[in-house]
Amino acid sequence: MPRDPRYDILFEPVKIGPVTAKNRFYQVPHCTGLGWLRPRMLAALRGVKAEGGWGVVCTEYCSIHPSSDDLPYPTASLWDDSDIKANALMTEKVHAHGALAGVELWYGGSYTANLFTREVSMDVDSKPNIVGDPFQSRAMDKQDIRTLRRWHREAALRAKAADFDIVYVYATHGYLPSNFLSPLTNTRSDEYGGSLENRVRLVRELIQDTKEAVGDRCAVAVRFAADEGGGEDGIPVHADRREMFEMLAELPDLWDINLADESYDMGVSRFVKEGALEPYMDFVKSATSKPVVTVGRFTSPDTMVSQVRRGIVDFIGAARPSIADPFLPKKIEEGRPEDIRECIGCNICFASDGKGVPIWCTQNPTMGEEWRRGWHPEKIEAKGSDAKVLIVGAGPAGLECARALGQRGYEVMLAEAGRELGGRVTVESRLPGLSEWARVRDYRLQQIQRMTNVEVYRESDLGADDVLAVGADHVAIATGATWRRDGFGRYHPAGLADLGPAERVFTPDDVMAGRLPEGRVVLFDDDHYYMGSVVAERLCAEGLPVTLVTPENKVAAWGTYTVEQVRTQRRLLELGVEIIAAHGLSAFDGREAVLACAYTGRSRRIEADSVVMVTARRPNDGLYRSLSERLSAGAEGVPRSLRRIGDCDAPAIIAAAVYAGHRYARELDSPEGDRAQVLRDGVFGETP
Ligand SMILES: Cc1cc2nc3c(=O)[nH]c(=O)nc-3n(C[C@H](O)[C@H](O)[C@H](O)COP(=O)(O)O)c2cc1C
Ligand code: SF4
Repeated sequence: MPRDPRYDILFEPVKIGPVTAKNRFYQVPHCTGLGWLRPRMLAALRGVKAEGGWGVVCTEYCSIHPSSDDLPYPTASLWDDSDIKANALMTEKVHAHGALAGVELWYGGSYTANLFTREVSMDVDSKPNIVGDPFQSRAMDKQDIRTLRRWHREAALRAKAADFDIVYVYATHGYLPSNFLSPLTNTRSDEYGGSLENRVRLVRELIQDTKEAVGDRCAVAVRFAADEGGGEDGIPVHADRREMFEMLAELPDLWDINLADESYDMGVSRFVKEGALEPYMDFVKSATSKPVVTVGRFTSPDTMVSQVRRGIVDFIGAARPSIADPFLPKKIEEGRPEDIRECIGCNICFASDGKGVPIWCTQNPTMGEEWRRGWHPEKIEAKGSDAKVLIVGAGPAGLECARALGQRGYEVMLAEAGRELGGRVTVESRLPGLSEWARVRDYRLQQIQRMTNVEVYRESDLGADDVLAVGADHVAIATGATWRRDGFGRYHPAGLADLGPAERVFTPDDVMAGRLPEGRVVLFDDDHYYMGSVVAERLCAEGLPVTLVTPENKVAAWGTYTVEQVRTQRRLLELGVEIIAAHGLSAFDGREAVLACAYTGRSRRIEADSVVMVTARRPNDGLYRSLSERLSAGAEGVPRSLRRIGDCDAPAIIAAAVYAGHRYARELDSPEGDRAQVLRDGVFGETP
């Protein structure tokens, strides 16, 4: 299909200083959990983005010196010449598809404790480490500032040697240069502190140094926060940011604008919607003649066009939309925007980095697997046989399995017990703020509906005999999991004996099915991710008084990795939910709940009419087990293979279910041993 002429504007080339981007699609810097530790995986990932049509593809934050070391989060690095080779792997792959390669030079300052390199970090002052390690930075003296400028310049030269086209000065997100800029963090009284002129001095020097060093061939970009932070959502606090911007406006070749508050800049969809940065940065274009890029989880080409036409941006910046769908630009270009796999705004991608592991994505199971498994987000091997496959369960694992097997050309039957498809993503997407999670279902259904080789059977609650009667060659069971009501979980490894009466004990499944508790509700959250808090919010909407009890020290503790914990706790407090942290639920009798302190065991009683148990899930693997027994007993019509996938195998995050479905499809008909085979990336250090 030819592309819709409405979107032509997105494919115009844009000049950035000495280089030109072939279109307006700009993959802004985002980390991947790969960095200098896994250079081949990283290069392949970025190469796929370029292949997918992004005009600019940037690295993650790239450390300029060992005194800016973020392990266990693996950053890119340009510490010495031995790093050039690893980075050149990436630029080569990006250039192969006609895209520009950008590098974000980074010095963390008091953000890094340098636990790996054991160097002392430097910052505007001797500041406590921001992420909580018991370290402080050294307050930079004039010599330190000169040294930092030299390191930055040398890293820029290495970036040029690695064939990057765009070199960043990274002046936001609480890292060193941003601490010089902000009056809230700059406590200096020398010519680098105090007045606005003095506070911008270091950033101005870094821009000038970088231009002098590499500006003949490379564009120089600045990542800059449009507001000072601390305001209500959607209401910017510009303070002196506009003046600051105006002082620097014409110095770099490109402005990459975002916000200091990462929980808004890259907010989860529960709290932040598409295009949310506009009110913060709509002044920027009128204050500079240089091209401007910003972010906003852009997945709609109409929103993108509107941003450009209204003069808000020149480039459509994207981190997460490019992770969920590396081929987003190509799909618009080829006139098939309906094929875009839209980001759901869950931030599992960011959580992977926080865990120091290769990036996961809920929507895109191939992310991070481009090199080590050779997976491509759009291409998949043709079927290995004429086998018929039956998949039981149309949740995220079953849908992805059916979609990918269908793409391979297999004859697929997808049976779902209920009328609705989508399993947990459908029911969870009805909880407060989670509507965009339905995109996991919608993308897959939309693809499957076009496949003549995939049949979907709704209201088909199959037993073992029914499955055998189908006569499929392969059977995949994807029947999901059910929340437990017996207290079993991390806190009570053997469950909870004193829990009753049964009709007053609820689970998230009850709430999602509309079976709601009554009276004063105690919600016991021993899961620590989003479910406890969204169920609490749902109950608040019914006017029920809710007390959330958690053995952790804060609500939804795992949400720290997805950058939503603070917002979650704030939301619950604003809704009037009483939060009792560091306590477990030890008994409930229909009138009172007994709580025990997680540290001392000391108990206390609170009045409660109902409890909601958010503890653990039980795999729905009954069908799998009865089929396994038939197989072992040598029943007639048994399939050649029987597997369970997703939550029915082991309950986990939605991304894991999608991954399991995808992997099953990739590996069908491949030799059994292949399942364990995965290439191992690594670095060979060069000693001087
Ligand atoms: C997985 C992930 C890693 C990120 N890493 C970086 C980074 O290394 N440097 C940076 O400046 N911003 C980083 N960000 C922020 C993004 O560049 C971007 O500002 C933010 O995700 C909002 O854009 P989006 O809505 O298109 O995702 C990261 C974001 C994500 C999701
Ligand atoms: S993990 Fe979630 S937020 Fe991140 S890109 Fe994928 S769908 Fe979007």
